[in-house]
Amino acid sequence: MSPTEELVKARDLVKIYRLEGVEVHALRGVAFDIRCGEFVSIMGPSGSGKSTLMHIIGCLDRPTSGSVLIDGQETKELTDNELAAIRNKKIGFVFQTFNLLPRMSALKNVELPLIYAGFGLGERARRAKETLEAVGLGERINHRPSQLSGGQQQRVAIARALVNDPSLILADEPTGNLDSKSGAEVMSILEGLHDQGRTIILVTHELYVAEHAQRIIRILDGEIVSDEWVENCRSLGRR
Ligand SMILES: Nc1ncnc2c1ncn2[C@@H]1O[C@H](COP(=O)(O)OP(=O)(O)O)[C@@H](O)[C@H]1O
Ligand SMILES: [Mg+2]
Repeated sequence: MSPTEELVKARDLVKIYRLEGVEVHALRGVAFDIRCGEFVSIMGPSGSGKSTLMHIIGCLDRPTSGSVLIDGQETKELTDNELAAIRNKKIGFVFQTFNLLPRMSALKNVELPLIYAGFGLGERARRAKETLEAVGLGERINHRPSQLSGGQQQRVAIARALVNDPSLILADEPTGNLDSKSGAEVMSILEGLHDQGRTIILVTHELYVAEHAQRIIRILDGEIVSDEWVENCRSLGRR
């Protein structure tokens, strides 16, 4: 289970938002490597740049400068369509607010990434059902989001993130809208995915959530302030 190759390489990431003539320096030169099979938390207070960083790693947004390599591929030169293809194939997203489509059943929500990936109707339904069963929702596949609890909705979102068999799961405050019991269930699903060999990057502002990971990268005001293994607190250094 030891991590081998680098799945994510972030180099000198800078993100400056410009709003009505005002500049916000959300990332000020962030760099790290994440290897296949790692479970890493990115932890920092609200406004420290975590979501910005996750959006850039996940190819949902581009940095002002710096670069991200996913699986050895430099993303800077890719077109928006090529980035969308990488997202669909290699990355699964889980958000604080679940982001499910309200008018669709759990099954149809989970099928969405498979539609973009070009799977046919029968194969989509089969895979989506199987993935919902894997997160313990086999009995709820025809429920709409409003008919499910928060914890169940987040499990649907995890199934949607997983259904394309991505190598990387990005979760941004996945327990932020959940009670502690549902939050614990979601964390144990993420731990199970890690045990199966998935690479997970978890964004959180809470230490007790971050400590589920093997490694914690702390970010403050758009800069990394520490990068440590959880078990033995061995500092990785930053160069
Ligand atoms: N789209 C945007 N336009 C302008 N400023 C933004 C935008 N998104 C985030 N910011 C600013 O960038 C900083 C980092 O935000 P964010 O990455 O959302 O932090 P976090 O997820 O750690 O709370 C904050 O100051 C925030 O106000
Ligand atoms: Mg955020």
